[in-house]
Amino acid sequence: MNTEMKRRAFIKTAAVSALATSLTPRSALGNGEPARVRLGIIGVGSYGTELLQMCLAMPDIDIPALCDIDVEHLARAQRLVEMSGRKKPEGYAKSETDYENMVTRADLDAVIIATPWIWHTPMAVATMRAGKYCAPEVWGAASIDEVWQLVRASEESGMPCMMLENHCYDRDSMAILNMVRQNLFGELVHCQCGYQHDIRNVNFGPDGELTWWGEQALKRNGDLYPTHGIGPIANCLDIDRGNRFVTLTATASKSRGMKEYIRKKFGAGHPNANRDYALGDIVTTVIKCAQGESIVINYDTNSPRPYSNMYRVQGTSGLWMEDNNSIYLEGISPEDTWDSFEPYQVKYEHPLWKKYLQEDPRQERGGAAWLKLRAFLECVRRKIPTPIDVYDTASWIVISPLTEQSIARGGEPVEFPDFTMGRWISRKPLFGLTDAY
Ligand SMILES: NC(=O)c1ccc[n+]([C@@H]2O[C@H](COP(=O)([O-])OP(=O)(O)OC[C@H]3O[C@@H](n4cnc5c(N)ncnc54)[C@H](O)[C@@H]3O)[C@@H](O)[C@H]2O)c1
Repeated sequence: MNTEMKRRAFIKTAAVSALATSLTPRSALGNGEPARVRLGIIGVGSYGTELLQMCLAMPDIDIPALCDIDVEHLARAQRLVEMSGRKKPEGYAKSETDYENMVTRADLDAVIIATPWIWHTPMAVATMRAGKYCAPEVWGAASIDEVWQLVRASEESGMPCMMLENHCYDRDSMAILNMVRQNLFGELVHCQCGYQHDIRNVNFGPDGELTWWGEQALKRNGDLYPTHGIGPIANCLDIDRGNRFVTLTATASKSRGMKEYIRKKFGAGHPNANRDYALGDIVTTVIKCAQGESIVINYDTNSPRPYSNMYRVQGTSGLWMEDNNSIYLEGISPEDTWDSFEPYQVKYEHPLWKKYLQEDPRQERGGAAWLKLRAFLECVRRKIPTPIDVYDTASWIVISPLTEQSIARGGEPVEFPDFTMGRWISRKPLFGLTDAY
């Protein structure tokens, strides 16, 4: 059984930044026990169900309500909650906007959103305006206006919005962040990252029809899923916390992967085999930061290839490259020779991971995914700011519409909005520095 399978088996059997001042600690329960968290989830399809199962393995989480327009998905999720010994949650499935009724319930502290991307912002805005912590799953925005809506809802309601970016919690990324903060790479100069994942099968349903992922590839040409790559890199570069993204340029290759795939799988006569897909197979973005660093991001999801986030963190004293698990530090590594990252992983293990590995040495709870979830829920429980906040979320998801604009204008530089309105200068790093889990 690999780690992922063990994690799933374990789960089945066991079945918050700038907002600091607006958040006052909620007192613990009268008996001195910490408060429980009352959580609602919108979207219990494939990934939402995984998140639900992880939550059900946490004894201090209650699930009073769930929402999904697919009644089978909803019923499956309700059964899982009941099987865990909890009360059956009330279901919301009447319409695409029934989530509005769920998020206003008085018995919810927080809402997780795991729906198709087009719904993330309206659902997150409604959740925050209803006075709840909100945690949308990862996505890329469809427009810049959408991102401003998210930021304003958080500022006006005082409620945190933490995108659940698990790659920020990867064991190696967190050790690297630790090393960056201890200055082992010197001054950072250049980083690389990406989402390089063959998900061609996710674009099409069983009969070759387009799924909501596929619809995006049909209509949009840009980096549609930037946060798995940029999240950990933004943390290393203190983005919106002393540094910021200033401009980007993006270039897309020709589009071949979608058509090739559908032709091979369903035949050249299939209606979807003869459409023009907007999304280029490889989208390459270059970001320039206020402190002078450059970042290359690759988005590559429609080609046959092994998975890679392509991380590279490079400074004046050396660099780390994820792809060959290698590191080179001047004066420490043998000259002109890659070192294995393994001993560095142990030596510079992030305190959060040290704690986690003591509790769950075989990572059966869920590793990085569990850590992101637990960090969010812990912030809700303690009414403290989330380690990934609305400004982090905004600067990462806005990459999608900006890359679309740049590609459409032949690779012209496009400016990033400053969602912090100048506060990036004095905002302090938070990610990986709290004890929130
Ligand atoms: N962090 C990760 O590693 C990771 C992995 C996979 C997916 N995701 C993210 O999770 C989210 C969901 O992806 P998925 O693969 O589970 O998709 P999915 O299609 O399997 O599930 C989406 C669910 O949302 C429901 N839904 C759609 N519109 C709705 C509405 N208006 N109201 C209520 N429910 C609605 C659907 O019925 C479905 O059950 C996406 O944002 C995706 O990017 C993250």
